[in-house]
Amino acid sequence: MSINWRDDWSIGVYDIDSQHKELFRRINALLDACNQGRGNEEVASTINFLGTYVETHFRAEENLMLKNNYPDYKSHKEIHENFIKSFKELDGRFKTEGVKPYLIIETNRIVVNWLIAHIQNIDKKFGTYFKEKQSQLSFK
Ligand code: FEO
Repeated sequence: MSINWRDDWSIGVYDIDSQHKELFRRINALLDACNQGRGNEEVASTINFLGTYVETHFRAEENLMLKNNYPDYKSHKEIHENFIKSFKELDGRFKTEGVKPYLIIETNRIVVNWLIAHIQNIDKKFGTYFKEKQSQLSFK
């Protein structure tokens, strides 16, 4: 099962949307590795590949918020930190328990469902703020 990007997930900020697409590409690589029964080592390396990018993306998004004096920066960053914690726990479980069907279900819940909901509810709020700010600047 692959996750196909949907245009209504777009938050309207080009760099962030591109990064979200890349996140889904990496999630798909992980789900494929799990579902195709590839070895623990390969799954571990796709989790790493995803985890590294998640952190890169969060930092880029947070920097853009800071630069634009986004009022919800702190709470948004906290949500990111909590996700990183859950992701690391999941990563640890893959390492100790190996690739198990229930861990694939957990990955869908913890990573896929979370990310879709986060983009649609939390990132979109920032997207709206950012676009408004840009349009105000262009009228000055
Ligand atoms: Fe795109 Fe707030 O993560």
